[in-house]
Amino acid sequence: MKLLLTGSSGQVGTELKQQLAGQAGLLMPSRAELDLADEAAVQAYLKQHQPQVILNAAAYTAVDLAETEQAAALALNAQLPALLARYCAKSGAYLLHYSTDYVYPGTGSEPWQEDSPTGPLNYYGQTKLQGDLAVLAQCPAALIFRTSWVYSVHGKNFRNTILRLAKQQAELRIVADQIGAPTAASLIAAISLQALQRFQQGQPMTGGVYHLAPRGYGSWYDFAQAIVKQAMKQGEALVLLPEAIQPIPSSDYPTPAQRPLNSRLCVDKLERALGIRLPEWQELLAFKTQ
Ligand SMILES: NC(=O)c1ccc[n+]([C@@H]2O[C@H](COP(=O)([O-])OP(=O)(O)OC[C@H]3O[C@@H](n4cnc5c(N)ncnc54)[C@H](OP(=O)(O)O)[C@@H]3O)[C@@H](O)[C@H]2O)c1
Repeated sequence: MKLLLTGSSGQVGTELKQQLAGQAGLLMPSRAELDLADEAAVQAYLKQHQPQVILNAAAYTAVDLAETEQAAALALNAQLPALLARYCAKSGAYLLHYSTDYVYPGTGSEPWQEDSPTGPLNYYGQTKLQGDLAVLAQCPAALIFRTSWVYSVHGKNFRNTILRLAKQQAELRIVADQIGAPTAASLIAAISLQALQRFQQGQPMTGGVYHLAPRGYGSWYDFAQAIVKQAMKQGEALVLLPEAIQPIPSSDYPTPAQRPLNSRLCVDKLERALGIRLPEWQELLAFKTQ
């Protein structure tokens, strides 16, 4: 079975690549080999290779830059998924696409359901929502996993930034009024492979949107505390102590793109579909490799 993995150098893509190791027929073009913002090039690639499965882990994820680099964000987050969905609908190929908590408006304090009203607060969220809507319209059998606050040992993410800063400075101010669930890229990859296995066994999950995040919620401040405490437990030499992290409101940390205060995702639908219980976010952080 030919499987196309896009974004294999990203956080989720790297974990998928590792967990798919040994799978025959794996296509993982680098950006130099295939610019995913180039529609004609993507179309030609699909025509040439005819993948039967597409895992679309590629995206434009620079949330603040997306406010100004709008064309690049739109190409990767909206136009690419639309094109992949059209190809999959036409060829019968299986599509697994990833999306974000940033499609929701961030109001209230109840967890979002998959059918909650959307209302992105920033341009990145708008483009991701456009991508979701295109996939749902073009290819109803496709899966869309909406996740939140992705981190991994690879790449640029909150966990790695906090670990770096904790070795350099004795104080840190972290936003405490945005609530969500930090999600290890390795969890996203593991669940994706379970979904893929279902498809390969002829029992695919029903197409549509699923939230994919660990159980439990916390703020970025809680996440920073947990990262530092975990690193101390693992014997890392840090300058920063957990009690020296100051909680601040989002208003004290202005960014070009507005962030939602409520990023809680209800994960019941995914748990029911796969017959699993997702781990708590703190449990996942305890593994050194995640
Ligand atoms: N990061 C988060 O906190 C977060 C939160 C919620 C949802 N998500 C969603 O989860 C999914 C995976 O995110 P991630 O954090 O793993 O992303 P990431 O680490 O930023 O990786 C993005 C991938 O896309 C590739 N890419 C971007 N533009 C490209 C282009 N023009 N041509 C070829 N490749 C291109 C990148 O390649 P290069 O390495 O060459 O740049 C990289 O491999 C995305 O759908 C994202 O929207 C992420």
